[in-house]
Amino acid sequence: MKKVITYGTFDLLHHGHVSLLRRARALGDYLIVGVTSENFDKERGKLNVRRSLPERVADVLATGLADEIIVEEYEGQKIDDIQRRGVDIFAIGSDWADKFNYLREYCRVVYLERTKDISSTMIRDATRRAISLGIIGNGRVADRFVPESKYVSGVDVTGVYNPREESARSFRDRHELRFATGDLDHFFSLVEAVYIASPHHTHASYTRAALLAGKHVLCEKPLVLTAAEAVELHDLAAARRLVLLEALKSAYCPGFKRLVNLVKSGAIGQVKDISASFTKLVEGRPRELTDRQAGGSITELGSYVFLPAIKLLGVEHGRVTFHSWRDGEGVDLFTRGLVEYPSATASFKVGLGVKTEGNLVISGTKGYAYVPAPWWKTEFFELRRENPGDVKKYFYKFDGDGLRYELDEFVRLVNDGERRHSYMFSPAESIATARLIESFREGKNTTQIH
Ligand code: CTP
Repeated sequence: MKKVITYGTFDLLHHGHVSLLRRARALGDYLIVGVTSENFDKERGKLNVRRSLPERVADVLATGLADEIIVEEYEGQKIDDIQRRGVDIFAIGSDWADKFNYLREYCRVVYLERTKDISSTMIRDATRRAISLGIIGNGRVADRFVPESKYVSGVDVTGVYNPREESARSFRDRHELRFATGDLDHFFSLVEAVYIASPHHTHASYTRAALLAGKHVLCEKPLVLTAAEAVELHDLAAARRLVLLEALKSAYCPGFKRLVNLVKSGAIGQVKDISASFTKLVEGRPRELTDRQAGGSITELGSYVFLPAIKLLGVEHGRVTFHSWRDGEGVDLFTRGLVEYPSATASFKVGLGVKTEGNLVISGTKGYAYVPAPWWKTEFFELRRENPGDVKKYFYKFDGDGLRYELDEFVRLVNDGERRHSYMFSPAESIATARLIESFREGKNTTQIH
């Protein structure tokens, strides 16, 4: 019996797929179809797949052309599949011409002519109107955001607002956007959703204005600087059925989500302590230091180091204490602190003027999770136990600047219509973050280091 194998995402199954499967089947007597898992697609940067794995498997099954369906989960799996299953022919569309010649060591490789003028991407583009998204504020992160947005389907960054219109205009030209304006009402009239990347202390007022104008909001972290503002804005979004998502990139990236799920499912026993650090030495007098109203390490980096504690130990906690070193003008250059929970503690360090090892350690009753720096762009972590030989290593993809993951979740929520909150970083978690930032800014339980 001659066995043929082929692979694909097979999203929104179309006649190009069917024709490929038919011709692949005709090459032998038995056709195995590898359908990519959601994780694998995400890992290889394909964030726009519409149908779930079970749906795509069912679609391929319904063609009646596959004798067997397998799931493709990792790079290099084809070599294993071909050898383990005694495959004679590997077939794939001509868009992959020569890419799989390395499989010739294991079987015959056939490139089948791709059907013209049809692809899943075309169908996705034709059926999903792109959300028109405008950017408020055009600082450094906004410069990274526009190129990242190209990796997310269903969204089109159309323009930019800055009260200093000239700055907006040069941003527009740099990124080839359609418009730039210094008039906020005009800006709102041109977009469906906004990404707020303005200075921290302006987030609350822009978010409020955008929600009142009926726009969905993706706001850079920290969303706001007080719990009351966070509550008010999340309530406002809920009342208006709008999406309000805080753009804390680590919360949405595949590696960090998997780490949280593993720890939550008991991989290291009960969590008793978390230690997270994030420091970034800044030079000169950048916004992080000169913004008298909202500069400093906690407002800049606190959201990241609070995240593991909030995700794993919850939004309710006890006392919070800080040790902080400030510059002559009161901006914190380094802060370490402790959040107390009834059955655990979470400590953190953030700094703009002090460098520490930027890792994350989650300690449990059966072992610990170790995430090396930069843990906030989680690509790799280990679960370790008492026996030093008992180590499990996990690798994930963190593409580009990572902003594509939060934008992808935002677009999903906007298009969903029903689901307005993300489980990856919920309103309650965003409010808890604001509360921690606020307690530091109020100077509660803070010891100054000189
Ligand atoms: N295929 C084809 N003709 C097309 C589209 C796809 O022969 N018009 C083949 C591909 O070459 C591959 C298989 O179908 O062998 C599965 O491809 P997949 O990547 O799932 O489909 P695309 O439509 O190309 O998806 P996308 O637009 O997301 O890249």
